[in-house]
Amino acid sequence: MSAPTGSALTATGTEVRVGGAFTLGTVAEGVILGLAAVSCAESTDPVDRALRAALLEDRPDLEKPPVLEEDFDPATPRRRYSLTMVRHFPLHDDDYSDVVVMRGALEPVLAKATISRRDKGLIRRNATWALARGWRALAVAVAPVGPRDQVGTFSVLGFVYVGVGRVKPLADEGPSNWAWVQVWSASLRAQHWLNVAVVLILSCTGYIIMDPFFGPAAGQGSDVGFLMGWVRLIHFAVGFLWILIGLTRVVAAFTSRDRHLRWSAWWPLKTKTDVKRLGLVLGHYALIKPEAPLYVAHNPLQQLTYTALYLGCGVQMLTGLTLFGLYHQTNWFWELFAMPTHWLGIPFIRLFHTMVMFCLWAFVTVHVYLAVRADSLERHGGISSMINGGVWLRRGSQPVDAPEVG
Ligand code: HEM
Repeated sequence: MSAPTGSALTATGTEVRVGGAFTLGTVAEGVILGLAAVSCAESTDPVDRALRAALLEDRPDLEKPPVLEEDFDPATPRRRYSLTMVRHFPLHDDDYSDVVVMRGALEPVLAKATISRRDKGLIRRNATWALARGWRALAVAVAPVGPRDQVGTFSVLGFVYVGVGRVKPLADEGPSNWAWVQVWSASLRAQHWLNVAVVLILSCTGYIIMDPFFGPAAGQGSDVGFLMGWVRLIHFAVGFLWILIGLTRVVAAFTSRDRHLRWSAWWPLKTKTDVKRLGLVLGHYALIKPEAPLYVAHNPLQQLTYTALYLGCGVQMLTGLTLFGLYHQTNWFWELFAMPTHWLGIPFIRLFHTMVMFCLWAFVTVHVYLAVRADSLERHGGISSMINGGVWLRRGSQPVDAPEVG
């Protein structure tokens, strides 16, 4: 971002600031600022005043007299850009020409003007970068004006950084630029850490059941004690506790008022836009796209992973109950649970139960790595959010799943 800044106050005392310009390279930053700053003489718009102040500081040589009212067609709620006829403007050094300046919100300007795919990607990435720091992109495009005032095709030149209130360049970004947003309820956090403890105990005891690698070895006449009995007892007891925790989670999914807990959150691909956003997130994870859509809670990829995890845990509980049912074959209830062993065989169910355990270990490894990575890169306090319930977001950023961060 270039250094020149200008500011103006709105009627309510809010400061509007200009933080320089981003150029696609065809003209200098000062020229973009100059084009964005030419406004109607009557304009008392704080953005126009801030732009003029910035231009005065950066390129006094470029300062143009305010344009006439008939040469200025302001933006409207339906057409979010203004059109201004600017006579005799030095677009390139001493090359003066008449141009029409299109100035406004990025997407409408991109839709109206000609721009290559590469430049479109570049300008959008920089605008997202600016947005994450609390700035808005005021796009600037120009069209040449022919001898009989016929207007040619618009080409996008870049954008001007416009900020409202307390926006700051990254260099002097301080704690006041961040807002704390509450995301996870106390019950969800409690469940998360209970699950961690329970899965850890079940993994340790399950592994020992699979491979009793310590303790007295069974041999002819030797007393091996009750060690494995205790290990199995702990496994079953904690297993039933885990099933209870799972059941409370299912009940919460249908009764809770917290939208992150509701069953509807388990399927994040409800519209075509959701699928598109999933593509963007995948591209970002595959290191193809530098930015991904911002989510306060889970992005679609995370949500699908957690839904698959819930299903995996459900299957693990069911296979555990199937194995447990084998001990009680005189009871119809447990006979029912043990049915799969008749179709697939006991060794298969045991192997399956063990394989799900290894899949859970793989999930936990990747989960912890990604949590630490995201927290270090995004500086949003994601890890502590599972303790205190909230994340830090830059003021002015606009998450997909929550209102703009104020
Ligand atoms: C994170 C969850 C769990 C993990 C990682 C886990 C892991 C294991 C492992 C590795 C085994 C040894 C398999 C073998 O070689 O026979 C096992 C056995 C078993 N598990 Fe689990 N388990 C889990 C949950 C459960 C649950 C919820 C139950 C249901 C109460 C359960 C009941 C059993 C039973 C009955 C056995 C067979 C014990 C035996 O043969 O003496 N497990 N578990």
